[in-house]
Amino acid sequence: MGYDYGSDRVSSLPTGLRMWPSKRYAEMHLRSLQNPEGFWAEEARKLDWYKTWDHILDWKPPYARWFVGGRLNACHQCVDRHVKTWRRSKVAIYWEGEAGETRVLSYSTLFREVNRFASVLKQLGVRKGDRIALYLPMVPELPIFMLACARIGAIHTVIFSGFSAQAIADRVNDTQARIIITADGGYRRGNIVALKEITDEAAKLCPSVEKVIVIKRTGEPVPMAAGRDWWLSSLLDKSEMLVKPEAVESTHPLYVLYTSGTTGKPKGVVHGTGGYLVFNHSVYEWAFNIREESVYWCTADVGWVTGHSSIVYAPLSHGAAIVLYEGAPDYPTVDRWWDIIEKYGVTIFYTSPTAVRMFMRYGEEWPLKHDLSSLELLGSVGEPINPEAWQWYYKHIGGERCPIVDTWWQTETGGIMLSPAPGIEPILLKPGSVTFPLPGVDATVVDAEGNENPPGQRGFLIIRKPWPGMLLDIYGAPELYRESYWSRFPGSYYTGDFAMRDEDGYFWLLGRTDEVLKVAGHRIGTVELEDAVVSHPAVAEAAVASKPDAVKGESIVFFVTLKAGVSPSSSLKKEIVELPRRVIGAIATPDEVYFVQSLPKTRSGKIMRRVLKAVASGQSVGDLTTLEDEASVEDVKKAYQSLRKVSDTSKGN
Ligand code: WTA
Repeated sequence: MGYDYGSDRVSSLPTGLRMWPSKRYAEMHLRSLQNPEGFWAEEARKLDWYKTWDHILDWKPPYARWFVGGRLNACHQCVDRHVKTWRRSKVAIYWEGEAGETRVLSYSTLFREVNRFASVLKQLGVRKGDRIALYLPMVPELPIFMLACARIGAIHTVIFSGFSAQAIADRVNDTQARIIITADGGYRRGNIVALKEITDEAAKLCPSVEKVIVIKRTGEPVPMAAGRDWWLSSLLDKSEMLVKPEAVESTHPLYVLYTSGTTGKPKGVVHGTGGYLVFNHSVYEWAFNIREESVYWCTADVGWVTGHSSIVYAPLSHGAAIVLYEGAPDYPTVDRWWDIIEKYGVTIFYTSPTAVRMFMRYGEEWPLKHDLSSLELLGSVGEPINPEAWQWYYKHIGGERCPIVDTWWQTETGGIMLSPAPGIEPILLKPGSVTFPLPGVDATVVDAEGNENPPGQRGFLIIRKPWPGMLLDIYGAPELYRESYWSRFPGSYYTGDFAMRDEDGYFWLLGRTDEVLKVAGHRIGTVELEDAVVSHPAVAEAAVASKPDAVKGESIVFFVTLKAGVSPSSSLKKEIVELPRRVIGAIATPDEVYFVQSLPKTRSGKIMRRVLKAVASGQSVGDLTTLEDEASVEDVKKAYQSLRKVSDTSKGN
């Protein structure tokens, strides 16, 4: 197998860092790889099934189907199951609005609400397999509607509330969603985000949309189209109190979630029900040691996969209490998050390195004002965490008491793949390393030919066996599914990430191999960005590179050539900056734009991205150790020098 589970050293580090020998984990991981089917069947028995499976795994590469023949329901799993126990009267959701309002929902209240919401969907004629788009702020109605969809076998597609009308339309048209659920507005830094108006603009481009359901959040007047738009409250008036959960097949899609890849359009990642739930139930137990008494706060937006698995499906399937916070992290004061941890007694806190770096800048005096002693465990996700941020997080948030689980995963993997597993057995942590693959995950690092790399050598992270949380497909694009994940190293899942293992076998993630940026943990495709900018009539060509950013991890830098006769100007620059915002959303706003005479290309016409990246980041050409496949060193040097000159002179424009 080639696994080295690290040394058995008991370290002399402080408590949270100190871990015990990893024997139990090693035994479990080995067993899971030797007999994956037996291993996962045992895990699957922890869930409630209406009917157990006929086959554990149907693996016809590149398609894996788990627990085939089994029937279950995700809403039953996350809600109904708890209502039959003492958990009926315990907290399921602590919600806090940006302005400080609170709502606390017990599992029995959640049960009542999901039933009523499911009844609303049924009133509108929603049936099993229909796609429903959710464009909502972080309010309890968002998870409730997700669970209501799951209850009747409808497939939700959540669209991040920071996305633009065009981004909504792309997603709705791809899934052919019949209904969009939105709100009259959302709050961000005290301002109202006009979600309904943005939805109206999007709906004009979406012929499949029959109905729009509107939740009252701000109370501001919004236009309502007669016959198409419905206030949720008026539909709830007519709702039934009980809707029987649909016993769907294990392989029935639970949701479609769009994410950026190397093509111009985001990919609709499809997740199933049985495999996804089993995987998430298990990995949250291993990585976070989550229990029914946990108060779990994942700060992601529900619009990303982290929110799907870590806010909704995994913690609720464990009967834990989740915290849902509506607003900006540092609003109205920069200790808002620390105040929330103290107020609700959060025990497990999960956030991104970008957030940690931002709070590090504000200073430790802010967390120091609060009693954070309820915390037991901290998590990090979305991008590599630099050791400095790790140490700050460990010391000032975790009080040198809480282990940090640095969790590596992707929209496509459905749940956490590589991470420490204190829920199985603590091990020695190394700041900046995700440590090891979780049980059932056969990860390794290979060279360009697919041979396993020796320790210390950077290579490609691949997964050699299917796992239950693995995506089912790309919605409506099976060839893209095959091509994106299964063609680079046949038989193995290609993650698109660089990684390295050290002498102790620990994994270190080293960034993306492809044309995907991670800006503040958000995944943005360079081609999507470029398409947005090229739509400007004055632009001939546009290419994006990323530049290291002390807080956001990466920032977006554009190199643009203009059409003949057009001169660069600061107003043109402003228009260009505005375009990705309009087409994608504010998270895609370029940080810098350079006008250049030409873009560096290989002889076959491919843009030399590494040259752009080196110029954008101010690295020397000597840093371009591995050059673009098809370009000569001389070509690269020339291109680099001419661009360098432009970027130097156009700074400050
Ligand atoms: C990156 C987010 C380093 C990685 C759950 C991956 C990470 C991409 C980590 C997926 C981590 C995620 N350390 N890099 N702990 N976690 N990544 O689909 O490049 O938004 O491929 O899923 O984020 O991003 P996605």
